[in-house]
Amino acid sequence: MNRQILLKSRPTGAPGLDNFELAERPVPEPGEGEILVRHSWMSLDPYMRGRMSDARSYAKPVGIGEVMTAGTVGEVVRSRNPGFREGEIVQLQGGWQDYAVSDGRGVRKVDPEAAPVSTALGILGMPGMTAYCGLLEIGRPKPDETVVVSAASGAVGAVVGQIAQIRGARAVGIAGGEAKCRYVKEELGFDDCVDHRAPDLALRVERACPKGIDVYYENVGGAVQEAVWPLLNDFARVPVCGLIAQYNDTTPRPGPNFFTVLRKRLTIRGFIVWDFADKEEDFRSDVGRWLREGKLRYREDVVEGLEKAPEAFLGLLQGKNFGKLVVKLR
Ligand SMILES: NC(=O)c1ccc[n+]([C@@H]2O[C@H](COP(=O)([O-])OP(=O)(O)OC[C@H]3O[C@@H](n4cnc5c(N)ncnc54)[C@H](OP(=O)(O)O)[C@@H]3O)[C@@H](O)[C@H]2O)c1
Repeated sequence: MNRQILLKSRPTGAPGLDNFELAERPVPEPGEGEILVRHSWMSLDPYMRGRMSDARSYAKPVGIGEVMTAGTVGEVVRSRNPGFREGEIVQLQGGWQDYAVSDGRGVRKVDPEAAPVSTALGILGMPGMTAYCGLLEIGRPKPDETVVVSAASGAVGAVVGQIAQIRGARAVGIAGGEAKCRYVKEELGFDDCVDHRAPDLALRVERACPKGIDVYYENVGGAVQEAVWPLLNDFARVPVCGLIAQYNDTTPRPGPNFFTVLRKRLTIRGFIVWDFADKEEDFRSDVGRWLREGKLRYREDVVEGLEKAPEAFLGLLQGKNFGKLVVKLR
């Protein structure tokens, strides 16, 4: 028989056991072009909380009565697909069940000699790739910079900090509890780790990052994000990878919604005009030409006399100006 875990109902807030249901069905028969995989490993990942909900997101929710989604590793026990041989070990999105049938799309062969096959779901799989790409493509740590990562002992966070160090940066983890922090420092070799469950989090993160933070790899959101935020240095980068502390929220938190940043892959970057000083010549040439060509229009709000300046300035702060406010002195 094929044991399966189905989504029975959608949770409101934190999920419970009653949202799941165990079912037993006959082991499926692979059709023409398909393979039957007997799972040996199944991944559990935070994203599954999102799939239990039908809120609009970047991926389709699991339907009620459907098998919960999961990455799996297993052996091909029957093959009717010329691309796969029986006995091969594969990684696929097989779901929370003992067996899965697949047409081979998205199925990756795993070399059991290269590493324990379970790593295809962890450091050599989706979480490892998430850490590698998020850190190097968005975080772009430079030598001697400070990289802070939350959920530091976990699948993604552990890899982030270690790659940061390989790139010559200082790695500071944030993790829950003493044992996790000790592991992050002593076994993973991070430069420091702060326990987010102990009091005075903000103060302890500040102490661990005396030169501020250049990359904050965001895995959790919530209180940890609040503690980290004021310590970000000029031009810091924040790969928004996950917000696990907020996955069970039933109402949006105040302020800009980081779920929008994550789900829609927004780029948000502050700037001060002089960051682009090297573009000044382009600006003058383009805008000057567009003005001469009549492609740009402008409006001035002219106040006459220096003595009118204070009142006009106060008006500007209340929206009383209409167009670029200038004072005509003579
Ligand atoms: N964007 C992507 O494509 C992508 C891909 C994979 C994963 N992710 C995200 O990356 C993050 C880490 O995933 P993972 O697979 O590596 O999981 P993980 O870190 O192995 O496990 C989740 C960890 O999150 C922390 N956590 C849970 N609730 C928390 C809370 N309320 N406040 C602070 N920390 C809390 C816990 O660690 P502590 O006890 O140390 O706090 C927990 O062990 C998740 O947010 C996940 O959704 C994103």
